[in-house]
Amino acid sequence: MIGKLPKVGTIEIAPSILSADFAKLADEIGQVEKAGLKMVHLDVMDGHFVPNITFGPPVIEKLRKYSNLFFDSHLMIMEPAKYAEAFIKAGVDNITFHIEVAPNPADLIKKIHDAGISAGLCLNPETPVSKIEKYAHLADMILVMTVHPGFGGQSFIQAAANKIKPIRQIVGPDIRIEVDGGIDSKTASIVTELGADTLVAGNAIFGKPDRAKAIEAIRNACVK
Ligand code: DX5
Ligand code: ZN
Repeated sequence: MIGKLPKVGTIEIAPSILSADFAKLADEIGQVEKAGLKMVHLDVMDGHFVPNITFGPPVIEKLRKYSNLFFDSHLMIMEPAKYAEAFIKAGVDNITFHIEVAPNPADLIKKIHDAGISAGLCLNPETPVSKIEKYAHLADMILVMTVHPGFGGQSFIQAAANKIKPIRQIVGPDIRIEVDGGIDSKTASIVTELGADTLVAGNAIFGKPDRAKAIEAIRNACVK
């Protein structure tokens, strides 16, 4: 395992700041850090790979000064290889990129590893498991999208979650499987039962006034 990604064997919840108040990001991240979480999920969107635009390296670089959380960046951008270095310099602890826009996934994983951080490989709901099969074992984490990427607060797609089991069979127990999209206290039990161990939740945490309580509800729903 390369970098600071929490070792397998625990269930980690990674709140997505997409649903946080962007004018108060440092405070918002501070709240989930205080609640005892280790990771925060940073959704980077470029308006091309997905029909929405969020933030990039300059914002992450500033946030880095305010938080010791594991910065789990999820690049929903075209040409992730072109921008990986900028995100590394900004201080992310993990780069997850999409297989749909990565012509050389093995090279990009190596580039990320050479920088001393972990690499995640992501697949959209309509992308079959076979697309990642050859490269999955090279990554530290596989990210299974359970909504079409681009926006927070969408409904969980069960058919996409059903890919967790076959992916777990391919990667074995030593690689994290992260799920992203529509995760709340109901769906958390479904995805952990299927074998996911890293849960992204935006709306279900930052959309709630009491973040600690929202995190607790998700944690209690997880099947160990
Ligand atoms: C979707 C993003 C997700 C999103 C999840 O494109 O990758 O991380 O913020 O939001 P919820 O938990 O609200 O579905
Ligand atoms: Zn995400």
